[in-house]
Amino acid sequence: MSRILNIGIATLDIINHLDHYPAEDEELRALVQERRCGGNAANSACVLSQFGHQVSLLCTLADDAAGAQIRRDLQAHGVQTDQIVTLDPAHTPTSCITLNRANGSRTIVHYRDLPELQAGDFPYPQIEQYDWFHFEGRNIEASEPMLRRLSEQRVDQPISIEIEKLRPGIERLYGYADILLFSRAFALQQGYTCANDLFDALRQQGIAAILVCSWAEQGAWACDRHGDRYHQPAFVPEQIVDTLGAGDTFNAGLIHALLEGRSIAPALATACELAGRKVGQTGFAHLN
Ligand code: ADP
Ligand code: FRU
Repeated sequence: MSRILNIGIATLDIINHLDHYPAEDEELRALVQERRCGGNAANSACVLSQFGHQVSLLCTLADDAAGAQIRRDLQAHGVQTDQIVTLDPAHTPTSCITLNRANGSRTIVHYRDLPELQAGDFPYPQIEQYDWFHFEGRNIEASEPMLRRLSEQRVDQPISIEIEKLRPGIERLYGYADILLFSRAFALQQGYTCANDLFDALRQQGIAAILVCSWAEQGAWACDRHGDRYHQPAFVPEQIVDTLGAGDTFNAGLIHALLEGRSIAPALATACELAGRKVGQTGFAHLN
């Protein structure tokens, strides 16, 4: 069992399950509607917690009904909520998600006007209590000073940073990470058509971290500190029903495997196997 601090966001996901993707201006009835905690750091925390880790989430929430539900959901998953920063008056962010049951695609419309974490919200005096720090790569102005101080004060705990979206200045975070977890969407936005081209560019920029990039149905790639490359094909379930949070599950699987002492190739396999099972089922339950 390890103690993990996830730093990022939580949101209320309002998920409409549909039997096909709607056309513009169509009116249709959802098969099911779920309202539950979402957000990359929160989703990864819920999956990590299933492996017996003691996971704490650092994010902001509003003092409203959605914020209260998110806290309850996190606690039901065993995730610790005592680091959460509650803002009032404010509104908890929501994502309206169209989940197409025919192919598992998830279309996300995210709305937020909630202030993000500030550098001073990080629990610096408690750094020694954690074994791993996992950041969502966002909120650069606050994350950079957090990471700088954490790097100075930590003992030797790993820092992973998820780089999912192209955000101004996000490359300023790279140098603080032991492991950078990229998404296919990010690589494509940067003009790379494969993970290895992204890795080549990062090594040329002098980035020394372990590099990982998930690539949906093609699985995932990694580049270790020696420059050795790895590819793990995806584990494809019988039917793909729900890809919401596939990347968050993949990241949790990778962190868990590395915490267990596995090397990069088997850790990639664990992460893809876990994410493959996730896309074959609805939600995040019983993934361990
Ligand atoms: P994100 O949710 O951030 O878009 P990806 O789509 O890259 O992330 O998916 C993360 C991981 O989930 C992949 O590396 C793969 O292991 C698994 N995965 C995603 N989509 C599929 C799929 N269609 N079939 C099998 N595995 C998948
Ligand atoms: C999935 C997810 C959802 C959330 C959205 C936020 O990866 O975390 O749970 O609504 O992305 O961008």
